[in-house]
Amino acid sequence: MKVPAKLLATAAVSTLISSAAMAQSVEVLHWWTAGGEAAALNVLKEDLAGQGIGWEDMPVAGGGGEAAATTLKARVAAGNPPTAAQLLGMQVREWADEGALGDLTAVATEGHWADVVPSALQDFAVRDGKWNAVPVNIHRPNWLWINAAIFEENGLTPPTTWEEFNTVAQTLKDKGITPLAHGGQPWQDATIFDDVVLGIGGADFYRKAIIEADMDALGSDTMVQVFNQMRTVRGFVDDNFSGRDWNLATAMVLNGEAAMQLMGDWAKGEIVRADMTPGTDILCVTAPGTEGSYLFNTDFFAAFDVSDDNQAAQSALAASVMSPAFQEAFNLVKGSIPARTDVAPDNFDACGQKAMADIKEAEANGTLLGSLAHGHGQTSAVQRAIFDVVTEHFNSDMSAEDAVEELQIAVESAQL
Ligand code: GAL
Repeated sequence: MKVPAKLLATAAVSTLISSAAMAQSVEVLHWWTAGGEAAALNVLKEDLAGQGIGWEDMPVAGGGGEAAATTLKARVAAGNPPTAAQLLGMQVREWADEGALGDLTAVATEGHWADVVPSALQDFAVRDGKWNAVPVNIHRPNWLWINAAIFEENGLTPPTTWEEFNTVAQTLKDKGITPLAHGGQPWQDATIFDDVVLGIGGADFYRKAIIEADMDALGSDTMVQVFNQMRTVRGFVDDNFSGRDWNLATAMVLNGEAAMQLMGDWAKGEIVRADMTPGTDILCVTAPGTEGSYLFNTDFFAAFDVSDDNQAAQSALAASVMSPAFQEAFNLVKGSIPARTDVAPDNFDACGQKAMADIKEAEANGTLLGSLAHGHGQTSAVQRAIFDVVTEHFNSDMSAEDAVEELQIAVESAQL
């Protein structure tokens, strides 16, 4: 993809970025290896190349970033961190608390980031008044992607509740069509779990059960209902779902092998790359029962290597990422929306425009909530504990009542 001249022009914005940056390169650890993800990353690579800054790629494949997190830990432990690493919100906080992160405050102040970055994101990027990381995007995990042709041929309308979802999915199943494309990996199971908790319990329940890890909410009848719905969802995936990568599941919806996928809007990156139109060929509706709420996750580039000779390139990277032109160009390819509030929606597709309108509404209504599956709902330890129970339940005949009991025990011990 070609980087617009306007975008390259923003390169020179920061007086902080000395010519020293020019001879430098940034090493960036990330997990953007799927087609749409890699295409989006290219926008950044080309932008930096336009400033004479080299790119040392450190990709660690694995959707959701679990493998990348392990590699990063090893690199930091060995005293050899990358210049920047892709992190989800809670990970930014945790690395900041370890004292492992550098300081982007000077670049942030010069770029007036505090005025344009939504406060929900600043909560993760800023620790003790110091910007540790730059937000690249805002993703929304609570989407349901629908193959429009399959729905039309079968006279179906997009489900708005979990009950409707079950009816539609059963109709498809009875006709021999795989209702739901899914990849059986813990983070993908948890992406569905997020949707079910929010869709059945509502925003207040999600906040109590997930964000506050409230024991009563975790042990409630509502949570039993949630696990029962997870069991029902399990009946709507194909036999080969185990271990499948998310983008292969998306491909099933694009080529008509399956009707729907519950996935974040990085799936839109795959739709766009396949030359299909989001909102027309592939419909985007909020996950059942979640209209009015906005689960979010943001990919941050956290500043790691703070050695003097790398700082100019690191600052240049951060300034480039935050520029309005970059935020638009990148997010159009990635499927997410900009991490700053002053980018116009005009060039975004119908799904992007809906996301931009919905996030404003959710922010105003107190229904903008961090995604558990994508590192913004709980600490990494509690998140892992919940993943384990959700995945164990999904792949066994464990009852919903037992799952709820296990959930309480797992969360409690992860908090110790
Ligand atoms: C998310 C990340 C997205 C996307 C996805 C699948 O956690 O925020 O940018 O990469 O994983 O890999």
